[in-house]
Amino acid sequence: MSPPHKFHPLSRALHWTMAVAIVAMLFIGVGMASTVSGARTFLLPAHRSLGVVLLALAAVRLGVRLARRAPPLPEDMPAWQRRAAGASQIVLYVLMFTIPIVGWAMLSAGGSPVTLLGGVQLPSIAPQSPALYAALRRAHTFLALLLFGAFLQHLAAALFHLLIRRDDVFATMAPRWGRRRDG
Ligand code: HEM
Ligand code: HEM
Repeated sequence: MSPPHKFHPLSRALHWTMAVAIVAMLFIGVGMASTVSGARTFLLPAHRSLGVVLLALAAVRLGVRLARRAPPLPEDMPAWQRRAAGASQIVLYVLMFTIPIVGWAMLSAGGSPVTLLGGVQLPSIAPQSPALYAALRRAHTFLALLLFGAFLQHLAAALFHLLIRRDDVFATMAPRWGRRRDG
């Protein structure tokens, strides 16, 4: 069977929905961590709930990705760029899982159970310990910064393909539009 020209529709839908939500989470996170105003009272529960939803969506997305073949990269792409593309996808996936898990674990370690909007309470996934809380709190910030860097690199690579190389890579992830050379 010939390889697909595009990522699976569910992968594409999840990619764009999650891209918007993850970037929003970075800003919500920084916003709530740097204010003591009343905004914290709604930003914090929104951040926790959206973060847990993103963790569940990342699992669905990884499942679809592993079950379906990904479209191949252009044959004329240098080997180092292929390796960099593969490595950057792995980094993005690792961060999509570790950041929300670390967020959840840090609240467990801090002794405040994660309660989602709607009142559902998640189990604790780490032992209560102020030292562990402090380490995970720092790790959450560090990983979020790393994700921001990886996102900027990924955005630059996507625009490089779309505007400079003008190949079909962007179209593999485009919702419906996007140029693709036939033949
Ligand atoms: C993709 C998912 C997530 C992203 C991108 C993200 C990002 C961030 C960022 C950027 C900060 C601010 C860090 C700082 O300025 O020091 C933050 C703080 C925080 N996050 Fe997350 N987060 C995610 C998921 C979660 C989850 C699932 C939870 C909990 C269940 C969570 C709980 C928290 C808490 C409690 C804080 C600290 C708030 C404070 O002390 O002011 N995060 N997050
Ligand atoms: C935080 C935001 C983002 C994350 C976490 C992310 C993550 C990913 C991941 C993991 C893939 C591999 C395919 C998959 O399994 O889904 C991918 C592919 C892709 N992404 Fe993103 N993405 C983000 C934002 C963006 C943005 C803003 C653009 C474009 C402006 C973009 C363009 C693409 C393109 C063209 C592909 C297909 C090419 C490839 O295989 O690398 N992404 N993205």
